[in-house]
Amino acid sequence: MACFFRRRIAEKLSGILHQAEDVFIPALTAAHVMKKQPSVDFKLAVGSLRLSGVLPCGGDVQLQTESLAAQLKPDSVVEEISAGHGVINFKVNRRLLAQKLLEPFGKGEDHKFGLNSELLSPLKRGTTVVEYSSPNIAKKFHAGHLRSTIIGNFIGNLKQALGNTVIRMNYLGDWGMQFGLLGAGFGQFGSMEQLKQNPLQHLFEVYVRVNKEVEQNEGIKQNARDFFRQLELHEPQAVSLWQLFRDITVKEYQCVYKRLGVHFDVYCGESFHQHGAQEVVQQLQRKGLLTTTEKGTGVVDLSPCGDMSSVCTLLRSDGTSLYLTRDVAAAIDRREKYGFDEMIYVTDKSQENHFDQLFQILRIMGHCWAKRCRHVSFGLVQGMKTRTGDVVFLEDVLDEARARMLHNMSQSNTTKAVDDPADTAEKVGISALIVQDFKGPLLSDYRFDWDRMLQAQGDTGVFMQYTHARLCSLMQRNEDVKMSTFNPSLLSEQTSVAVLQHLLRYDEVLIQSAQDLQPKHLVNFLLKLCHLVASAHKELKVKGSEEEVAQARIRLFMAARAVLSNGMKILGVTPVQKM
Ligand code: ARG
Repeated sequence: MACFFRRRIAEKLSGILHQAEDVFIPALTAAHVMKKQPSVDFKLAVGSLRLSGVLPCGGDVQLQTESLAAQLKPDSVVEEISAGHGVINFKVNRRLLAQKLLEPFGKGEDHKFGLNSELLSPLKRGTTVVEYSSPNIAKKFHAGHLRSTIIGNFIGNLKQALGNTVIRMNYLGDWGMQFGLLGAGFGQFGSMEQLKQNPLQHLFEVYVRVNKEVEQNEGIKQNARDFFRQLELHEPQAVSLWQLFRDITVKEYQCVYKRLGVHFDVYCGESFHQHGAQEVVQQLQRKGLLTTTEKGTGVVDLSPCGDMSSVCTLLRSDGTSLYLTRDVAAAIDRREKYGFDEMIYVTDKSQENHFDQLFQILRIMGHCWAKRCRHVSFGLVQGMKTRTGDVVFLEDVLDEARARMLHNMSQSNTTKAVDDPADTAEKVGISALIVQDFKGPLLSDYRFDWDRMLQAQGDTGVFMQYTHARLCSLMQRNEDVKMSTFNPSLLSEQTSVAVLQHLLRYDEVLIQSAQDLQPKHLVNFLLKLCHLVASAHKELKVKGSEEEVAQARIRLFMAARAVLSNGMKILGVTPVQKM
């Protein structure tokens, strides 16, 4: 494992610079695989040792680098040490590299690879609440909801892999004036039968229709207000209709989320916090934090100098609460219920201000845990359309991905071996969607492009799945090769070494992703792994090789497959065995 080598290098540094080994560990990184530098496995950034005070800051960095490199003596583990530009490069023994990395595989613990790394131990483990997806009942499931769903799922998976207790939460838009409209609209154009047959579609149609109608029809407007008032007063008939809309929606969503490989531990929603919202308002009043404006609304001053230059509204003049008020109540409630150590909200960047305000309000109310709440923000997606038009429901995107992938598979001649082509097409189509979304920084906007994301070559989810399936088939075709032993000296070709060097980086990549919650580190790591595996596949024959050589190569491919599969699962992608 990477830790073994890091320790050995740190030991050497400690001997010369007379500081604890641990101070060197963060300054050491496994090198990116590069053709130009095939014999660099680890790098030490001398600048970072200056920053952490291990080395004096005065003087020339390059001189310091060269002098330190010259003092470090190679041995049988760390075989070469040389000075580069502000970095010291290390090459480790090739046999040991293969042995340490590949030994842990095939013992039933492949899924733990990289997760026991000492690099990960300083990460605080505890309870993480991740709130994601959170669509609004009867409204469109837009690209932002899709992004929130897959990003939140990734964060949940990653945190869980790293040993946190994760509570996955869906905060449904299940309250507000839209339910007045929906209730009134349903009374007029709704049908119980259609609602049971195709709930999401029917609710959406009613909602669109009533929104149109309300512009010309005062009567409906009044009905909507009345219905919402009845809801707020918990009038049983109104509540039972609302409950039906909600239950039916949750049930439908659960099925579609399942297709996407996503689940939630809790479906909560804005409706849960009507009472809590009023309590929040009272607390703010008691603490003297709520100011009543001339218009009769209740606002909180968030300006740094207390001059009301930046305020946010928490109470309407009619005494009802707002989205923000309900979020304050929801956060307090979750903290009480789950005692979380951190809470992560995933929405598009248009809500950045909302979450800023939310966290500030919690802080001024005295909730110091608010500093452990985080908003993961992402950019907009343009052009998410299906062949028949706009995406309205999550199901539309999944159907389109499946149909397009099924079509592509029917053009290829390997597909015949697949048992359930529709299921495979769905899984591969979803991977394509996820990889396209996760490749860049989350904050960037991007253009949705079915053709590009479904390409079999290039950096796509299809290519990733293809590599996984190919590795599975390689393992299967070579079932007769004995897996229990291998000779690590037989993996010294540069193609093998490159795969091994790349695997050395895995724990660092997980750490990076856990720190900034960006999936791009992991996606790009896995894509690179796929490219390295493609070369290895071409150059390192298993069939027809001598028994010992075949064994060693199979072990390498087995490790690559396991890491690929582990990483894909964290991304939220289900690896396929055949395609
Ligand atoms: N339902 C909201 C929307 O569709 C997203 C909810 C985000 N979460 C929250 N706690 N405010 O925009």
